[in-house]
Amino acid sequence: MKISDLLLSVLVSSALAAADPALPLVKSNQLRRLINKSSLRARVRELHGIAMRNGGHRAAGSPGSVETMEWIENQIPTNYYNVERQYFEFSIPINSCSMTVNGTQPGFDFCFGSLGQHINTTITAPLALVPNLGCEASDYTGFAGKIAFIRSGSTCDHKLQFNLSVAAGAIGIVSASIPDDTLNARRDIDLNTRRDLSLDDPDLPNVGVVYTSGPNAQAVLEMLENGDQPTTIDIQVEWEYTYTANVFATTKGGNQSSIITVGAHMDGVKGGPGINDNGSGTIAQIEVAKALSNFSVKNAIRFCWWGGEEQGLRGSRHYTTQLSAAEKSKIVMNLNFDMIASPNYRYGVLPGDDPLVPPRNPSTGSAEIKQHFLDFFAKTGRNAVLADLVPSSDHWPFLDVGIPVGGIFMGAGGLKSEEEVTLFGGQAGVPYDSCYHKACDDKQNVNYQAFMTGAKAMADAVATYGRSIKDFPFPRPAAV
Ligand SMILES: *[C@@H]1O[C@H](CO)[C@@H](O)[C@H](O)[C@H]1NC(C)=O
Ligand SMILES: *[C@@H]1O[C@H](CO)[C@@H](O)[C@H](O)[C@H]1NC(C)=O
Ligand SMILES: *[C@@H]1O[C@H](CO)[C@@H](O)[C@H](O)[C@H]1NC(C)=O
Ligand SMILES: *[C@@H]1O[C@H](CO)[C@@H](O)[C@H](O)[C@H]1NC(C)=O
Ligand SMILES: *[C@@H]1O[C@H](CO)[C@@H](O)[C@H](O)[C@H]1NC(C)=O
Ligand SMILES: *[C@@H]1O[C@H](CO)[C@@H](O)[C@H](O)[C@H]1NC(C)=O
Ligand SMILES: [Zn+2]
Repeated sequence: MKISDLLLSVLVSSALAAADPALPLVKSNQLRRLINKSSLRARVRELHGIAMRNGGHRAAGSPGSVETMEWIENQIPTNYYNVERQYFEFSIPINSCSMTVNGTQPGFDFCFGSLGQHINTTITAPLALVPNLGCEASDYTGFAGKIAFIRSGSTCDHKLQFNLSVAAGAIGIVSASIPDDTLNARRDIDLNTRRDLSLDDPDLPNVGVVYTSGPNAQAVLEMLENGDQPTTIDIQVEWEYTYTANVFATTKGGNQSSIITVGAHMDGVKGGPGINDNGSGTIAQIEVAKALSNFSVKNAIRFCWWGGEEQGLRGSRHYTTQLSAAEKSKIVMNLNFDMIASPNYRYGVLPGDDPLVPPRNPSTGSAEIKQHFLDFFAKTGRNAVLADLVPSSDHWPFLDVGIPVGGIFMGAGGLKSEEEVTLFGGQAGVPYDSCYHKACDDKQNVNYQAFMTGAKAMADAVATYGRSIKDFPFPRPAAV
């Protein structure tokens, strides 16, 4: 593009932005009215089709994810939005392991190169059964130099168990889940353990981890009834480099120094089409973005479709870490919409101000966003509960850089409680989404009543904050 063309395009786009005031200023009820179930349903079928044409999934870096990006971009009105892609590279450690227990090779699900670093590791030591549920430091007495066999999926999480075994001097861990909950465990280990305990710290001991479940785990457990078993764990790590992108649509109108970011991840896991997780947020953003183009806004809205969430928040992390201080200071808040159509849903509001979350940068404003969503559910005659502020979704990198966050989350693999059934109906003791990260997370795996509510909650927040941030603490005090 020549400089003169560049200037022309700048002039044209500012002329269009200037045309915005002709549109009525956005209002929540008017924006919400434009969100309808038949459009959501049509988008679900299209997204399902993309997964089906591309080997059944839309994982980051795969053809299904590229088609998902094009599908999003083709629906965004470019007279109203600046649409851009932000590419980023990421690497995934591909581990191949073997485990030999007293001369036999029981199967297992996956392994980690090391808790400390992803490096090739061979560990030969006695494999010993951790008594009880492995939730107390005393369960690990005498484990120095041994490989700890820990039964998990019980009263405490992997994070604590791994921490206790490392503290006791164990040099390897076999984490056994009976019954099988492999996918949730992988997510738990990958996202929570590594990040929260800073296990990438090179000073930590080189501990190998093997994760096993079901009959494989049962077979090793039976061997351990005869005492410690001589065991070798061999872990080989190769790095796979790949790239993907985030997609952004930013309103041309509205104050570009007070930007509301609204985000959902557009990639899925390799195991299934990823329709509720998190196709639902992706779709709601498309529909809200289209509807918004009928109105003007006072504050700019940036819809963000994140890539690489399932690999560990790669897209949102990339975005927040490359922002300059000046750009960061223009972002008022981040609203996250991940899994907003769970079949056995609850209306969960993200408590961005959760005092239990480890100290982060000051993020004044999260309490106001939480209250905004609680008020939305109350004023529309619905119950709501506070969700856990889990570090496993795209709001987290924003918290890390001191930008306030909020959003809604209708539940993943966790079990619905009796109390939640009295508030929302559905089935107690059953996961919010039984198809979480599975092949059955497809076009059938959508509760449209929940989905409509989630999309309207998004529309309400976009309209409210797009219209005014008068009572919101912004600009923020400079980060310390
Ligand atoms: C639903 O929304 C779409 C897109 O905004 C619109 O074209 C369609 O006419 C609407 N359908 C109904 C039934 O309101
Ligand atoms: C993990 O262990 C370290 C010391 O080894 C401790 O400081 C930390 O609080 C522990 N974390 C958890 C979640 O138990
Ligand atoms: C290991 O396997 C051998 C052969 O099956 C068996 O005799 C031995 O008792 C086993 N060792 C332990 C510690 O169970
Ligand atoms: C680790 O093992 C893999 C597979 O055998 C090999 O390709 C890689 O080079 C090894 N890495 C190092 C650092 O030795
Ligand atoms: C745009 O937002 C910035 C940051 O809050 C503010 O300082 C500025 O006055 C706003 N501009 C207009 C025209 O409202
Ligand atoms: C809203 O905007 C969309 C896309 O720009 C357009 O297709 C639709 O007709 C508009 N709806 C109304 C009610 O104006
Ligand atoms: Zn997911």
